[in-house]
Amino acid sequence: MIDAFKALTRRGLFLIDPETAHGLSIAALKSGLVPSCRSDADPRLAQTVAGLAFANPLGLAAGFDKNAEVPDAVLRLGFGFTEIGTVTPLAQAGNPKPRIFRLVEDEAVINRLGFNNEGHETAFARLRQRRAAGIVGVNIGANKDTADRIADYVAGIARFCDVASYFTVNISSPNTPGLRDLQGRQNLAELLSAVMSARDAAVEKSGRKLPVFLKIAPDLSEEGLDDIAAEVLDKGVDGLIVSNTTLSRDGLNDRRQAGEAGGLSGKPLFARSTAVLARMRHRIGPALPIIGVGGVSSAETALEKIRAGADLVQLYSCMVYEGPGLAGAVVKGLSRLLDRDGAKSIRELRDSRVDHWRAQKI
Ligand SMILES: Cc1cc2nc3c(=O)[nH]c(=O)nc-3n(C[C@H](O)[C@H](O)[C@H](O)COP(=O)(O)O)c2cc1C
Repeated sequence: MIDAFKALTRRGLFLIDPETAHGLSIAALKSGLVPSCRSDADPRLAQTVAGLAFANPLGLAAGFDKNAEVPDAVLRLGFGFTEIGTVTPLAQAGNPKPRIFRLVEDEAVINRLGFNNEGHETAFARLRQRRAAGIVGVNIGANKDTADRIADYVAGIARFCDVASYFTVNISSPNTPGLRDLQGRQNLAELLSAVMSARDAAVEKSGRKLPVFLKIAPDLSEEGLDDIAAEVLDKGVDGLIVSNTTLSRDGLNDRRQAGEAGGLSGKPLFARSTAVLARMRHRIGPALPIIGVGGVSSAETALEKIRAGADLVQLYSCMVYEGPGLAGAVVKGLSRLLDRDGAKSIRELRDSRVDHWRAQKI
């Protein structure tokens, strides 16, 4: 069923432009037309990370469900968690279209959306209506024309603290001019102090101390990674998400689309993002959770992220190529890999290839 669905959707959806296809995917999920994944939960895949109980380690990355339209339908596909956003305080249109490009030969995507979203209030109203359980992170950002970027992140914490399972502070999108400057040491120190204070203040309102993850780019220098590790540890951030899309165009076959401006994701991002993940695991030590994201396309690549130091894994772009059955297939595949390796839990395999991956040149 899922395979037939995959063949059909892939053939059909690839005839239309990527952004329209994305809108149709959201509409299909809303309508309930997409088959759910009925996988029996494997207790070996379950773990508690940052105080949250995950049934399995695979999540949907930010950017697919920007406006919190389908979090529960996404979870029914087999994901252990999902992340909505990036949301900014005010609705904004983003960059002119076309702004998403498929690099089919490379199973990659380039996007320069620029945080198109319906704003805090709309996403909040949808999340407030949810009745289902399930982990939904809220990825927060700043409006392009804001006078005070840090205030936009603080507003995100205050707005969503009643409905989020965790927060992601996204300072790594390449499509909002100047946003990645927040990764520099001084700016980052100020941002993280403000965000963590807002999180602590929100405990009184929501009664819960929500974990805050910082999502970083895969294009940072070694010194840049040192600075981020130092600030994350100093400010008590709860975890990292490694990584966002890359500005690099290394190793692409589809030269026709490679020249498009924007962030590259999908299979060609796998090695770079995994190498940065391992570098950060080495820097921050074993305690802090990391979510590994970039080019995950299978159970094998998901497990490789875990071996490189990830507690949890996310994917987005490869679902464009593999279809909505990918989540269930990866989760079932992880169980098979645990059988093969004789492992009692997924956590046991974490970090076994940190040294291999951090030695990779990027
Ligand atoms: C079309 C598109 C939109 C995205 N939008 C966001 C976003 O709004 N916020 C964010 O943090 N990441 C965004 N991302 C980045 C993904 O969350 C992820 O970090 C990146 O694509 C690497 O994972 P992948 O190779 O599995 O896609 C977007 C990616 C794509 C392809």
